[in-house]
Order: sequence, then C-alpha cells, then structure tokens
Amino acid sequence: MLQRQSTIISTIMSTYKAPVTASLLPSTTPATTTAALSTAAEILKLGGLVAFPTETVYGLGASALSEEAVKSIYAAKGRPSDNPLIVHVASREMLHDLIPGGEEGIPELYKPLLDRFWPGALTLIFPLTLANGRAPPRSTVARSVTCGLPSLAIRMPSHPLALALIKACHLPLAAPSANLSSRPSPTTAQHVLHDLGTNRGVGAILDGGSCQVGLESTVVDLVLETGELRVLRAGGVSVEDLSECLRKAGFDGVEKGKRGIKVYKKDFTSQELEDKPTTPGMKYKHYSPSNSRVVLVKRRQTSPSDPTATTTAVPSLSDVIHSSLPSPSSPPQHQYVGLMLSSQTLSLYPLGPPTPSPTLFANPTPLPSLSNTNLSVLPYSIGSASRPLEAAQRLFSGLRYFDSLDLGAGKVGVDLIVLECVDEVGVGLAVMERARKAAGGEVELEFV
Ligand code: TXA
Ligand code: MG
Repeated sequence: MLQRQSTIISTIMSTYKAPVTASLLPSTTPATTTAALSTAAEILKLGGLVAFPTETVYGLGASALSEEAVKSIYAAKGRPSDNPLIVHVASREMLHDLIPGGEEGIPELYKPLLDRFWPGALTLIFPLTLANGRAPPRSTVARSVTCGLPSLAIRMPSHPLALALIKACHLPLAAPSANLSSRPSPTTAQHVLHDLGTNRGVGAILDGGSCQVGLESTVVDLVLETGELRVLRAGGVSVEDLSECLRKAGFDGVEKGKRGIKVYKKDFTSQELEDKPTTPGMKYKHYSPSNSRVVLVKRRQTSPSDPTATTTAVPSLSDVIHSSLPSPSSPPQHQYVGLMLSSQTLSLYPLGPPTPSPTLFANPTPLPSLSNTNLSVLPYSIGSASRPLEAAQRLFSGLRYFDSLDLGAGKVGVDLIVLECVDEVGVGLAVMERARKAAGGEVELEFV
C-alpha cells in the first residue's frame, strides 16, 4: 500500500504541472476518499490545481500563498486578472493567520456572523490595512488573490471534503468557482470535467457528488467609516438570516437602515464597484449558457376579482415560446426548448413526466401539450414555487443540462431555455440575480 501510494505521488510530481486531462478522484468509500484526499493534497502542496466540492458550488483551488499557483487559476478559467478570489480556510486559527491583528482584528459586527454561519455559505471581506497599530498577518496571501485590493475575502466551507482537503494540505486555498469564466458555476464534478477537465492544467477533480446549496456564497463587506454592512453578492445565506442574526446579537438598527444591511443593486450602487469588479458578476458576463438563449417568464396569477385579467391580453406559455425562439434556419431544422418551471406550473401541462432531477433526462421526453412536429419542449422542474432553496439547487444544473444536451446530428444545446421567476425572498433573491444574468437582462415575459 505504501509502495503504491508513493508510486502515485511520484507520478503526480512528474506530471501534475501540465496534465492533459484532469483525473477524476472518486470519494465513494472511506478508502477511496482517503486516497483521493492525499493525492489532491499532494498536488496542492506542489503548487498545482485541484477542483473540489463545497456545499455551494465546486471550487478550483490552489495554494493562496503561492503567486505562481494562484496565477494558474486565472489561466485555467480564462478569468480576468482584476477579479479577486476568495480564500478558503478550515479553522478559526487559519482565519486569524490571514488578517492583521489576528483574532483581535475581527470586526465586532462579523463575530456573530462567524459564530452563526461558519462553516457555511458566507464569505466575509476583511480589511488588510494595518489600522490601530495592528500586527501584519502571520501568513501573506499572493498578490493575485486580492488583485492588490486592501481587503481579503475569506470563507470556511462546510463540505466535509473541502474541510478535509484544506486540513490535509495545511494551506489556505484560493478558489473561485470551478467553471470557465462566464459560464454557470459547477454543481457536480462532471460539470467541472466538462469545463476544465482537458488541457487546462487542472491536476485533479475531487468528486463529492452534487452540491447541496447549488449557488455561491453570500459575499459581505463592512464599510469601516460608517459601520454599514453591504451584501456585494446575494448567495446561500439569505439577507433575512443575516439581519436576524445581528438583531439577536444585539446590533439593533442594523436591519433598520441606520447602519442597515445594504444589498448591492437593490439598496445601493457604486460606480467604483461597477468599474473594479469587486462586486461579483457586475463587470463581467456571468452564468451564461454558450449554446442556448435564456428568457425569463412569470406566470400571471389570474383571479376573478382582477380587473386587468380580462382587459389585458396576456400570452399563453406556447405564445411566449414561439415568440422567443430564434428564427429557424432555412431549410427549417427541428427546434428544442428547455422549460425550467416550478412544479406547480409544470403540473398545468399534463402528460409530461415528473422531472425531479436532471439525471432523469437521459432520454428527454417532450411535453406533448407544447410540442409539435418541428418543436420539442423538454420539461425540467426547478422545484416548488414556495421553496426557493430547491430552485437554488437546480438552477445551474438545469442551465448546464440544456446547454450541453446532445441532440444528435452535431447539434448540442437546446435553442431556447425558458426559466420561470421565483419570489425574491430568502435565497430566491440570489436565484433571481443569477437568473437575470443568465438571461442577459431584466425582461420578464408574463404568461397565463
Ligand atoms: O460559494 C462560493 O463563494 C464559491 C465556492 C468555490 O467557495 N466561490 C466563488 O468564487 O463563487 P468566485 O471567484 O466565483 O466569486 C468570488 C467573488 C469574486 O467574483 C469577487 O468579485 C469577490 O468574490 N471578491 C473576492 N475578493 C474580494 C474583495 N477583496 N473585495 C470584494 N469582493 C471580492
Ligand atoms: Mg464564479
């Protein structure tokens, strides 16, 4: 066993720098998990890249302390070099080592958030300035992690494999989402393999199955001068939960506006943030499928007491589909539509198969009620309309599923993805923020 282990490691040492295809490391049994973790940790210690699961999305990790390793993250993803990275830690001690003043350097407002949401889907931005005579951090991250900003984004993921990997290599890991830049974030190891598996310099992909949250962490920073908390990116921890946590910790008024939690694009905007891409996804294109057009739809809830219901002509879903499809080529080819709708809306189109997960799409069955000889409409449930956690889990997976669907005769990806809006409460806020970016705008088409 030792012999075998050392053979694996020496192979890694000689090949990890430029593997053509990343090895997919399964972690299905305790033995495979241990072997996969030690191989992955070895690659990281040697300055290589490893993709790993977190509870939010898969990350593409490298040692945050090595400039060369961090630069290779940007190269692998095709990521603009001015978009800073989150550093992942596995303990409070690792956090203390990365910020000026150590434990003393943690802002008061962050303490209840750390206690409540770490490990978990919350990224906090810490100032790196040496205010109040604070000692410099014990560990200095590579300049490319922060892109020279005087602040550092840090998160402690809760996924056991992510935590075990960080502990095994004893390194803070810089890790953006493990997708090609501008594509939807990956929520399975296969998504990572699809985007970064070949000729991208990724040493290994640790396979931990599907991510539980399904979209990225909430990114929060603190404006030191005003004591204001800003949500730069809505994510897996809801704004309501952040407010509630601070209120319980005695920070009254935080949620009332005086020192309120402000949500980017809702409560404030800033040209500075727009220009410098420190607000995730603002400056650059994000979450876009490459083969399919995405439109957002909203079901008009009609009631007999609604006077506009009869006077305004609201199109049917079929009308919306036909008016949104790219014009057919000549001679007309068969067109495909992916319908990402709530389970309630899908139930209005009977005869379709139940579609709880994309794995059931091996042989997609068109919805007969909306399909015709030139058109196949394929259903995908984003879960119950009243449970945005389900939509969060299924959003990226569905976009990727339809965008990479092999439709035969060289055609990959459906022509159109129709995505139903969810209520912007809880993680619904983050779902809709991603959905709008995927659709490239704010337009929501109503249907009855
Ligand atoms: O859930 C997540 O956050 C995932 C997993 C892998 O942890 N990571 C992730 O990383 O989504 P990424 O790079 O795709 O998004 C992180 C965002 C960046 O777009 C960047 O704008 C922002 O966090 N960010 C990083 N450092 C920052 C800083 N110092 N100030 C402001 N924003 C920062
Ligand atoms: Mg990303």
